[in-house]
Amino acid sequence: MKRDLISIADLSREQIETLFSLARRLKTDRREGLPHPYLTGKTLAMIFEKPSLRTRVTFEVGMTQLGGSVVYLAPPDIGLGTRETVPDVAQNLSRWVDIIMARTFAHHTVVELAQHATIPVINGLSDLLHPCQILADCLTLVEQRGKLDGLKVAFVGDGNNVVNSWINAASKFPFAFALACPAGYEPNAEVLARARQRGAQVTITQSVEEAVRDADAVYTDVWTSMGQEQESAIRREAFKSYQVNATVMAQAKKDALVMHCLPAHRGEEITVDVLEGPRSVVLDQSENRLHIQKAIMVWLLRQRRQSDGAQV
Ligand code: CP
Ligand code: NVA
Repeated sequence: MKRDLISIADLSREQIETLFSLARRLKTDRREGLPHPYLTGKTLAMIFEKPSLRTRVTFEVGMTQLGGSVVYLAPPDIGLGTRETVPDVAQNLSRWVDIIMARTFAHHTVVELAQHATIPVINGLSDLLHPCQILADCLTLVEQRGKLDGLKVAFVGDGNNVVNSWINAASKFPFAFALACPAGYEPNAEVLARARQRGAQVTITQSVEEAVRDADAVYTDVWTSMGQEQESAIRREAFKSYQVNATVMAQAKKDALVMHCLPAHRGEEITVDVLEGPRSVVLDQSENRLHIQKAIMVWLLRQRRQSDGAQV
């Protein structure tokens, strides 16, 4: 049976911890210059409906470091859902490559790819979720604080795909997640309800001060996500009192970390002094995208080989 990585909600805590330890091992190998060609001869197809720096480079470099190769499919290349249906793309790719990563607008598109592909599919961001990012962020927090359990993560800004994945992560580990957002910009109601049923400690407030009080990490993301560009003027107005700046950081724990998935808009959701200050771990988060995604690819393909009766 093939496995996909579409949402953190689909993983158990144990599986996430397996990914963390594999990522740490791969990170050490990389830093010590030890080759780790676990995916020699494997090919990753990357489908992008939206732009990317981190996701594209880390998946491509990661697969190369693992001994495999990559095919990059830019938005106009395949006309996903226009030139060819999503199931047809999934079934054709399954005959040529070993694993797919897709960044899509509609979440349904990446789900449909996974349903019709006979190979693993990884969600590289959809309008609803960004699981690889939050797995890298959680790994960063574990590196910085030793564990996730008992921490408080505050998010200031839009209840977007990044927030929805944080909420899913909070249903797997006992940390508190507090979101400060303006009315009308709350996270997905279904994701939230399901995560709360599974025990996630999530608070949603319009008060930035309340969300960041005693926080171990303060996280933010752009006010206007990819695909929402026509709303950017309205959003700039709605979010103007939801900026992470020195005053906000002073309300969190003294040693609170500053987190951002990037790209950042300096002077909008975050000030330059905070983004580039000593408490910022944004480049560690970015680096960890590489290590966690290598772990994800090895893990997904290893599961597949084990279920085929083969050894890794
Ligand atoms: N954080 C992130 O996913 O960055 P990109 O959009 O550049 O891939
Ligand atoms: N919420 C942002 C994340 C970018 C990595 C977006 O979807 O554009």
